[in-house]
Amino acid sequence: MDYLLTEEQRMLKELVAKFAKDQISPVAHEAQKTSRFPAEVIRQAADLGLMGIAYPAEFGGGGMDYVSYMIAIEEISRYCASTGVIISAHSSLATDPIYRFGSDAQKAAYLPDLCSGRKIGCFCLTESGAGSDAGATKTTARLVGDKWLLNGSKQFITNGKEADIAIVFASTDPPAKTRGITAFIVESGTPGYKVGKIEHKLGIRASSTTEILFDECLIPRDNVLGEVNKGFKVAMTTLDGGRLGIASQALGIARASLEDAVAYARERKQFNHPIGEFQAIQWMLADMLMEYESGWLLTYRASVMKDRGLPYSAEAATAKLKASEAAMFCASKAIQIHGGYGYIEDFPVERYYRDAKITEIYEGTSEIMRLVIAGNLLK
Ligand code: CAA
Repeated sequence: MDYLLTEEQRMLKELVAKFAKDQISPVAHEAQKTSRFPAEVIRQAADLGLMGIAYPAEFGGGGMDYVSYMIAIEEISRYCASTGVIISAHSSLATDPIYRFGSDAQKAAYLPDLCSGRKIGCFCLTESGAGSDAGATKTTARLVGDKWLLNGSKQFITNGKEADIAIVFASTDPPAKTRGITAFIVESGTPGYKVGKIEHKLGIRASSTTEILFDECLIPRDNVLGEVNKGFKVAMTTLDGGRLGIASQALGIARASLEDAVAYARERKQFNHPIGEFQAIQWMLADMLMEYESGWLLTYRASVMKDRGLPYSAEAATAKLKASEAAMFCASKAIQIHGGYGYIEDFPVERYYRDAKITEIYEGTSEIMRLVIAGNLLK
């Protein structure tokens, strides 16, 4: 499907594919096995300009479009889905809302460090009682003199351990529910900001997932992102873009599963034949390709719509839903094709399977994606 890409997008794809194969692939297994944040890989990605691909050069970004971002996240996730989500959460969940909703002063203060990868970002929306029901946030922010006082705790925060800059959603008018939520930019060194429990996960183990606690955390009045009580829309708009990042991560996992399965089907002999000669295997491979390509085309379509400034919420939800299901399908079939070897750590397909599952959950579950799609159909 490369024919759909521009020359610049194709060149980026080649560059990132080579980087991912040469630099990310060798550490991917060890980093997830030891739950280690691959700091050296993130530094190299930053040197290549991959921490701010879709943001203007004046802020230190790559000045490219969202399709380019999608391609880069897929190529990275082809070898390491943990690295894919580290960069995706940093870019589409932390950098993007500052770029889209920040004041000139906020953009100047935060974007150069984020786009260059000197600082890492995270997105603090989810709470123990506010997952799919993101509007049920209990974290509060109250104006005290010329500062905001934050109290509460956030959960399941990607990059929570490493983040320097957090986008935090808190209720500033609890009875107003979603119309009483405000977004804030919070620096992790602020007194009262604390990294809480670090989660042990089924997959994407090289990326950290933590609690973030706010205990009488005072931040400057000017750190409101967008307008007071308009933060829920900041969250929803940001998640539309974020879902394309996760769709791209899922595509990387699906493609890795397919490519590894094809290689194995060529090589592995049973009954004196490479198993790829058997129809049972061929049908699985054909279905895997169809799933991957469907997810890719939907993600490409939504990315193009975003680049053109068209409304794309439902298309982003469709892309994430399909791409994440493709990742699960392909990873499961890749293990099936590998047989017993697929179930052990000697081959990476067991990791693809573990990494795939979260793409059906974070940044909106598959059920919430269906809700967004149906809501758009029925409006
Ligand atoms: N863009 C802009 N505005 C939007 C919007 C969108 N995509 N979706 C909704 N809104 C607006 C609505 O228009 C409405 O505006 P008004 O107040 O002006 O009427 C407002 O937001 C409230 O909308 P709803 O009544 O539809 O809100 P709801 O409470 O019913 O929730 C939901 C809707 C789609 C279920 C939403 O809560 C949702 O997306 N839930 C999933 C949350 C999610 O994805 N969480 C992932 C967290 S991030 C993560 O995974 C961590 C990580 O680090 C990777």
